[in-house]
Amino acid sequence: MADGWEWDDTLFAGTAVHYRRGRLPYAPGLADALRGALRLDGRGRLVDMGCGPGVLALDLAHLFGEVVGVDPDAGMIEEAGREAAQRGLSGKVRWVRARAERLPAGLGTFTVAAFGQSFHWMDQERVAATVRGMLRPGGALVHVSDLKSKAPASAEDLPHPAVPYGAVDELVKRYLGPVRRAGRGVLPSGTAGGEADVLRAAGFSGPRRLVVPGGPPLERTWDDVVAGVFSMSFSAPHLFGGRRAAFESDLHRLLREAAPAGLFSQRPPDTEVFVWGLDPAGAAAEDGGVPPP
Ligand SMILES: C[S@@+](CC[C@H](N)C(=O)[O-])C[C@H]1O[C@@H](n2cnc3c(N)ncnc32)[C@H](O)[C@@H]1O
Repeated sequence: MADGWEWDDTLFAGTAVHYRRGRLPYAPGLADALRGALRLDGRGRLVDMGCGPGVLALDLAHLFGEVVGVDPDAGMIEEAGREAAQRGLSGKVRWVRARAERLPAGLGTFTVAAFGQSFHWMDQERVAATVRGMLRPGGALVHVSDLKSKAPASAEDLPHPAVPYGAVDELVKRYLGPVRRAGRGVLPSGTAGGEADVLRAAGFSGPRRLVVPGGPPLERTWDDVVAGVFSMSFSAPHLFGGRRAAFESDLHRLLREAAPAGLFSQRPPDTEVFVWGLDPAGAAAEDGGVPPP
């Protein structure tokens, strides 16, 4: 966690209902890439830490015998349960409303612990040590995120205009101020980095890095983009207070002007995965290792 910032339970409040619609999907080949890299065979146990609406837990459920999703946000846990029921996975996946810092909480041991864009919100040293103790011998910690490229992929050859992210950010700042908001606090320098050092110090080996290509270009409506904005911690609905309706109407106006026909084109990002092992001669040795994230 960043210096001077304290986690509180409004961090993702109200974002869950916007999450699946608003966020860009992970790469379609992610599950197959993990199946190969971790030799998953439909047995074993997965814990999805900071599972949100069950994104990784549900997409990877077929690779495990049992799955547990952990998240402190009530809305996220509710959405995850709803989606699991829709996919007929309620019998296989269990949801636990808790901060990762409160584990192990009697959840047992796991073959894989996955973090999908969530580890940076946690007390990393503490959670790394806890997870190490929750993994079975030969188990793996998997860190999954959108690959941040320096130059965002151009949408010039695509049929619709690109989402005007710069203008959307400016609008958010006009309402919420220039410093990034996070729950009841602010994050002037963003969240803490240094995951690799923390994981190494906790006794993990590696990492092995996989980059899974993003899927085909997407068409996104105005409402998809609005959902994307409200899915973010730094522009979570509650942060706008009584000005939410005004913000939403300004945002719609901006999007209408950028795409009068109502559609944007967007290339989904590649998905970057770091696989950390428990065995000192594990993942890094196998692949020759890669530079730390
Ligand atoms: C950006 S979302 C990621 C959701 C999902 N894992 C994914 O890959 O899309 C971050 C999630 O981490 C959760 N989170 C934040 N702090 C946490 C903590 N200390 N312990 C567990 N989960 C936490 C949030 O509630 C939120 O659902």
